[in-house]
Amino acid sequence: MRLHIPFIISISITFAALVILYACREKKQPTSIGKPITPKLPDYFPKKYYIPENNLLTDKRIELGKMLFFDKSLSKDKTISCASCHLPQYAFSDAGKVFSDGVNGGKTTRNTPMIFNAIYQNNFFMDGRARSLEEQALGPLTHPQEMGMTEAEIVKVVKSNPTYQKMFKECYGDIEIKTICAAIASFERSIVSSSSPYDRDLQGDTTALTPAQKRGRSLFFSFKVGCQKCHNGHLLTNREFMNIGLDENYRDQGLYNITKNESDKGKFMTPSLRNIAITYPYMHDGRFKTLEEVIDFYATGGKNHPNKAPQMNSFTLSPQQKADLIAFLHSLTDDQFIKK
Ligand code: HEC
Ligand code: HEC
Repeated sequence: MRLHIPFIISISITFAALVILYACREKKQPTSIGKPITPKLPDYFPKKYYIPENNLLTDKRIELGKMLFFDKSLSKDKTISCASCHLPQYAFSDAGKVFSDGVNGGKTTRNTPMIFNAIYQNNFFMDGRARSLEEQALGPLTHPQEMGMTEAEIVKVVKSNPTYQKMFKECYGDIEIKTICAAIASFERSIVSSSSPYDRDLQGDTTALTPAQKRGRSLFFSFKVGCQKCHNGHLLTNREFMNIGLDENYRDQGLYNITKNESDKGKFMTPSLRNIAITYPYMHDGRFKTLEEVIDFYATGGKNHPNKAPQMNSFTLSPQQKADLIAFLHSLTDDQFIKK
């Protein structure tokens, strides 16, 4: 039999090329992702929470995400980390600032919200523009007024760090923008706040709330004051976009910025009221400094706006009742959580 040399060579070349192509395309697999974590959530919290199938929660991934969350080298001028604006001791919001400081003297255009119990959320930002924590994390990293990096710069910084090299190899295989965001998201899913006096009361401890807080709770859940029409369930939010009549003309149009529907003008996500006493100032633009000012606003029933929620109604409270309502809001502070 005669060997057909050119044929064999061309077959070999094709084969070799395929092998190389395959090797380049194949992602490195994680070597040991760590112990799976089931978040410890009280049984009276909602049953549904979100962990994507391709980002299982493990102890090592949480640890890696935590390092990234606190790492200032992920910002353009190495001065800002996620935790510069989301401070753990303020329930991951910013300490008393209306707007937060980003890189190169930049400022955010919204008040920094708290982050906890985010495992229950499937939309993020006050206008819901991100659909997962993974997607959300890229926003601040690349935002010119926040951390100001490009995707390539972020990957480069992470790749140059031997600790990250080792941890990414174990947890995710490759270091790429997707896995960096996945790690940060894992850390955020582990941030749970559920041990306030209000929780102890829910668990049957009748001495957890003071008499003033109990009176305030009745007001909060009453039809007359009606906070629970929107801040309901044990996370104290209906997770809906509402216009509460803060202005007749909103400078920041909230949900409308994304959808361009007239009926979404002035709508913002109802936030949780857990830890509310320590996350001042309040509202998307931080316009109210104190809870007292917030309640004075709600008592007016809000300004006229075509999109104002029908749940908004005016009410009057005696000074005692106002103090009681504020006392109740203080019972939502989880001291264990903010000391961590
Ligand atoms: C310069 C300050 C600043 C930095 C740095 C920053 N954030 Fe934020 N964060 C904000 C502000 C302001 C918002 C609200 C923006 C909006 O709603 O449009 C926000 C919103 C969020 C939300 C949405 C919360 C919700 O309930 O919808 C999450 C989650 C979050 N940030 C996580 C992060 C992570 C992760 C990082 C680091 C990669 C980070 N942030 C860095 C200021 C900051
Ligand atoms: C119609 C629905 C609705 C009702 C009723 C309502 N809220 Fe709100 N609440 C919201 C929305 C939406 C926001 C976010 C608005 C924004 O940021 O512009 C908010 C924001 C807040 C904030 C500021 C949160 C933050 O992190 O900045 C506090 C405090 C608050 N509400 C307390 C109350 C209290 C107390 C009552 C009852 C007197 C009440 N709310 C009634 C929907 C409602």
